[in-house]
Amino acid sequence: MLHLNDQSLLRTRAFVAGSWVEEPELGEFSVFNPADDKVLASVANTGPKTANTAIEKAVVAMEGWKRRTAKDRAHILRKWFDLILTNAEDLALIMTAEQGKPLAESQAEIRYAASFVEWFAEEGKRAYGDVIPAHAPDLRLLTLKQPVGVVAAITPWNFPSAMITRKAAPALAAGCALVIKPAAETPLSALALAELAHRAGFPDGLINVVVGTDAVGIGGVLSGHPQVRKLTFTGSTRVGKLLMAQCAATVKKTSMELGGNAPFIIFDDADLRAAVAGVMASKFRNAGQTCISANRILVQEGIYPDFVRELTRAVKALRLGDGRDPDTDIGPLIDGAALDNVDSLVRNALDGGAMAMAGGQASVLGGQFYEPTVLVDVTPEMRVFREEIFGPVAPVVRFSSEADAIAMANDTSAGLASYIYTQNVSRIFHMADVLDYGMVGINEGMISTEVAPFGGMKESGVGREGSKYGIDDYLEIKYLCIRGG
Ligand code: SIN
Repeated sequence: MLHLNDQSLLRTRAFVAGSWVEEPELGEFSVFNPADDKVLASVANTGPKTANTAIEKAVVAMEGWKRRTAKDRAHILRKWFDLILTNAEDLALIMTAEQGKPLAESQAEIRYAASFVEWFAEEGKRAYGDVIPAHAPDLRLLTLKQPVGVVAAITPWNFPSAMITRKAAPALAAGCALVIKPAAETPLSALALAELAHRAGFPDGLINVVVGTDAVGIGGVLSGHPQVRKLTFTGSTRVGKLLMAQCAATVKKTSMELGGNAPFIIFDDADLRAAVAGVMASKFRNAGQTCISANRILVQEGIYPDFVRELTRAVKALRLGDGRDPDTDIGPLIDGAALDNVDSLVRNALDGGAMAMAGGQASVLGGQFYEPTVLVDVTPEMRVFREEIFGPVAPVVRFSSEADAIAMANDTSAGLASYIYTQNVSRIFHMADVLDYGMVGINEGMISTEVAPFGGMKESGVGREGSKYGIDDYLEIKYLCIRGG
């Protein structure tokens, strides 16, 4: 049993049109704590029927919401922001319990989640149109920005709160209504956010949360329903492609934040301590279960021995454990399948000639705990170089020239985040130009913030979240051509 300051944040039913609902014929599903595999809660299993109802209610709720002023909408968003921060301790406890990340990381995620609500409350007031110099003397040309329509948001388990607010806040600020389908592993964080949204005063039906294990059925409704005009998804590239194909039938707008394979390039002239700190922050946050996590650490040959020594030392010092323990640096992986996948990538690398300087296997703690791992002598042929690891494994690859590093870095269909460490200013600008990635961290391993555009190129996705651009995906541009003005 999870003990909270405010026990009423622990909701276990879907949230539709302001009510907590269930589909008795579908029963319940269990939410587990990945640290000890104990059942945390039984949650109502809802499915396509509830998703359809939620969309119908959202259509109605949006009619009134889009007519309100942006300032009025911002006022309610701001109340939601305040409530999230006031209840941050409980929200972080819920997150650590169902997701496994250390409590300090959950607290940071709650602040990160709240920051999108605060940011977009303000950005909604700045959804300006244009007055365009006309092409004929007796015409006036204008553009207006209007909410795109009902939005479906399908969100992942790795950031159970921030990935919701990064989508919900711009949608609501723009004047849209929303149906959210959180991951079945982490529904409690989503439902707690819905409870706080309710208290903040959003009209019934504006925010709906459909919880359930039938991801295909619910996803089918959200991507197929003609009255959903936009689908936003964070998750795997495989599922993103399926959803895009399903959305094509009704030509929905889509935003896709998909998988990464981030290169982390360290040149000989890098500040060694900063580079190790950057890798630690990027690679081991959330036990490596992050799309922008350093996936391939490319290190130039001159700094390679010192870097490997220092990284190994830092990784060996990490404390693996239950996220509720304040001494824990790294929690468990989300489930057994995640652990098996990470282990198979490590085995493939070791079989191919890589060496484990730290870790290299599942932890003696058992369950879903995997030892923080450093692999050296990794080559581009290994799966660990080609696939997104989503685990606490740092594969180190040696390179000699800048050209080699660029070729290796871009040798992937992914294009989300990349990182470079160098003190050479002209190299910084050259690398920033040639890396085929939506984001480049330069001498910095922690790049996420609500004020900057988050998103990928190539198969890592479509669209940008956060920043002044993040609201655009929830707006349509309407062009007015006026004769006689
Ligand atoms: C993600 O991994 O999908 C999000 C990470 C972040 O926002 O920092």
